[in-house]
Amino acid sequence: MVYKNFDIEAVRADFPILGRELGGHPLTYLDNAATAQKPQSVIEALRRYYAHENANIHRGVHYLSEHLTEAYEETRSMVANFIGAKDAAEVIFTRGATESINLIAQGFTESILKQGDEILITHMEHHANIVPWQIAAEKSGAKLKVVPVLADGSLDMEAVPALLNERTRIFAFVHTSNTLGTINPAVELIEMAHARNIPVLLDGSQVVPHAQVDVSELDCDFFVFSGHKLFGPTGIGVLWGKREWLERLPPYQSGGDMIERVDFEGTTFKGLPGKFEAGTPHIAGVIGLGAAIKYLKGLDRTAALAHEQKLLEVATKGLLEVPGLSIFGTAPEKASVLSFVIEGLHPHDIGTFLNADGIAIRAGHHCTQPLLKEFGFAATARASFAFYNSLEEVERLVAAVHKLRKFFG
Ligand code: ALA
Repeated sequence: MVYKNFDIEAVRADFPILGRELGGHPLTYLDNAATAQKPQSVIEALRRYYAHENANIHRGVHYLSEHLTEAYEETRSMVANFIGAKDAAEVIFTRGATESINLIAQGFTESILKQGDEILITHMEHHANIVPWQIAAEKSGAKLKVVPVLADGSLDMEAVPALLNERTRIFAFVHTSNTLGTINPAVELIEMAHARNIPVLLDGSQVVPHAQVDVSELDCDFFVFSGHKLFGPTGIGVLWGKREWLERLPPYQSGGDMIERVDFEGTTFKGLPGKFEAGTPHIAGVIGLGAAIKYLKGLDRTAALAHEQKLLEVATKGLLEVPGLSIFGTAPEKASVLSFVIEGLHPHDIGTFLNADGIAIRAGHHCTQPLLKEFGFAATARASFAFYNSLEEVERLVAAVHKLRKFFG
């Protein structure tokens, strides 16, 4: 397939792992919602960092420390710019989306939530956007409320107004579902919450690899994502929040670097963003994330997204021709995530069979047990595509699933 501004072969050549074989088969990596592969430029940035640049930041007056502090803070500005944030101090580096959500949930527990308050989430949340709020509710006496999901995997928009009320203290929801692929109408949901003065936390983990995001346009109050799903390293993530909210919340962890002055009589904390970054951070992760963003900026993302949508369309059509196969998540607005089940076959058997052909998909609950339970599943098989996947790989998946159906009769 040839796109005017998107050369799939050139893009694939940027990702060394895509050239490897597994058991005599070319690797077909279709588990991008779990973690994405890394371009050579990210790998090289990490190598260069450890080989030539390693030092601690915000601490030394020597060349390496000063140089690295600059690179670290430049990456913060790059992240802000990448997500449309106006103020780099509103970008906090964390270990991942999970830690970002925990930071907010803990802050709300300590300073905002009271007995009888409500926290609103949706039925399609990842465990990372359920469990921290469950704990927040248990500790504060607040109640956890849940927006239902319709049969096609869309959010039940009609149920939302009644669930946003004068007791709701926060609405935390996923922009793009990692299991269903559903893209939620974020702007509409944020407007509904703001009309009632309720802040919104948007879990952007699965949207950032697929689309350009602008938090200023979205007008959410908090936005979180993980670096490893954005073609960067593991162990690094981002929390963006509006300054007035981040200033209102207490520090998450405490220790070195987040302080202004320490005395046995008491301690004062740094302002943003330092207040939320205790200890030596994952400097290599930040450098790697910066390299991933730089790589994405060099890509025609509109063409990349169009390519992903084509992959989704071809895979959907091909898989639906497999007898007994049904797709879980058929909302009209979908990212390139395809969950499916086959009558009479366990998803783990599907995953194992495909693995023998070098095809990597995920089988399981995808960290969304309440969602699967609601629809009567314990597990599904899930193929998730990135812009570097080729049409040929999708055809390989479809052919392997047909072969598996025949094999098991
Ligand atoms: N949350 C990741 C997934 O969807 C790990 O697979």
